[in-house]
Amino acid sequence: MSPYPVRAGILGCGMVATEYAETLAASSSVDLTACADLDHEQARRLADRYGIAAVPVEDLLTPETIDLALILTPPGTHAELADQAITVRLRAVWVEKPFTTDPQEATALTARAEHAGVLLGVAPDTLLGPALQTAAAALRDGLIGDIRSATATLLSTGPERWHPAPQPFYADHAGPLGDMGPYYLTALDYLLGPLRVRAATARTCGDRRIRSGPRAGEGFTAHAPTYVAALLETDDGTPVTLTASFDAAATHTPHLEIHGTEGTLILPDPNFHNGQVLHRPYGARTAEVIPHPATASGRGLGALDLAGALGDGRAPQCSAQRAERTVYLTAAILRAATTPPLPVQSPPHSIAPAS
Ligand SMILES: NC(=O)c1ccc[n+]([C@@H]2O[C@H](COP(=O)([O-])OP(=O)(O)OC[C@H]3O[C@@H](n4cnc5c(N)ncnc54)[C@H](O)[C@@H]3O)[C@@H](O)[C@H]2O)c1
Repeated sequence: MSPYPVRAGILGCGMVATEYAETLAASSSVDLTACADLDHEQARRLADRYGIAAVPVEDLLTPETIDLALILTPPGTHAELADQAITVRLRAVWVEKPFTTDPQEATALTARAEHAGVLLGVAPDTLLGPALQTAAAALRDGLIGDIRSATATLLSTGPERWHPAPQPFYADHAGPLGDMGPYYLTALDYLLGPLRVRAATARTCGDRRIRSGPRAGEGFTAHAPTYVAALLETDDGTPVTLTASFDAAATHTPHLEIHGTEGTLILPDPNFHNGQVLHRPYGARTAEVIPHPATASGRGLGALDLAGALGDGRAPQCSAQRAERTVYLTAAILRAATTPPLPVQSPPHSIAPAS
């Protein structure tokens, strides 16, 4: 039986679902046939827009309806819904990030999917986009020589600026590390290999205010750390710094830089598939854009790759195993942040305070 087209269904028809539907609708290897949402009206709107069926939630995750499930629901629901899709043995399951915040759960789900013969893929899929592919090729080609260090910087306002219901972004295990960390950590893992955590610090800005939508002005509490600074290390000891904040109004700092003996690569925000990759050779005064082909990209590339993997019998590129590593790394950063800081001894000389 030909594996194509793969019948795909979306579970969770909120903000990100439209982006996925656009990508899938443009593909001939996947046939987006159905969607479902606890809020049936949400499903109905997506279904009408893409000419697909809006089905009750309990009818979507069955092999009779679909081959590939895309789980695009809020973070706290991902593991349970992925587990359901594995239990009924859909052929493939795609899960939005974060996979889970619990390393044991990540391992258990990965193992269960393997055992059941279900292909499990997890966002982010930005590593399949032209920006990270270009950067990876530049590193492979030795464009910047031997890598000496890297910096990853996510300094942004909190999502309360643009999201009308931002509280989940500040739930335990969310914050800039839990919510945006998967993009940065996956990009670093993809480009530089497995990482260790050497040290981390975290501080919280707890009292926050919604700044958009009908509940603008309402206060809420951040439970996650809103600032994380971590010193990471690759297998060969290359240091990588990661700074993530939801309390920076603006920044000029690049999102991701990789420094080598012969130059530096400056990458765009790994939350997105596109953007310019710059190369500044050692000693040069300016950076030049590395051209990359204009290819189709957007959220959903990973699900298309998952469908392709079904047909080719290969492992998906945005695999559960890759996401499992990010979950473990995130947990290690949070663990490292709980170790007390080194006390700094008072130097013998004092300085008069500024008047
Ligand atoms: N919004 C974005 O721009 C964006 C970008 C990248 C990734 N993501 C990720 O995508 C996921 C979804 O985010 P979103 O912004 O689309 O959320 P959203 O709140 O806009 O939509 C989620 C939808 O899921 C539905 N839902 C909740 N629980 C359900 C369940 N058990 N079964 C069926 N439907 C259920 C809700 O009714 C809602 O319509 C999150 O994990 C988020 O981190 C979002």
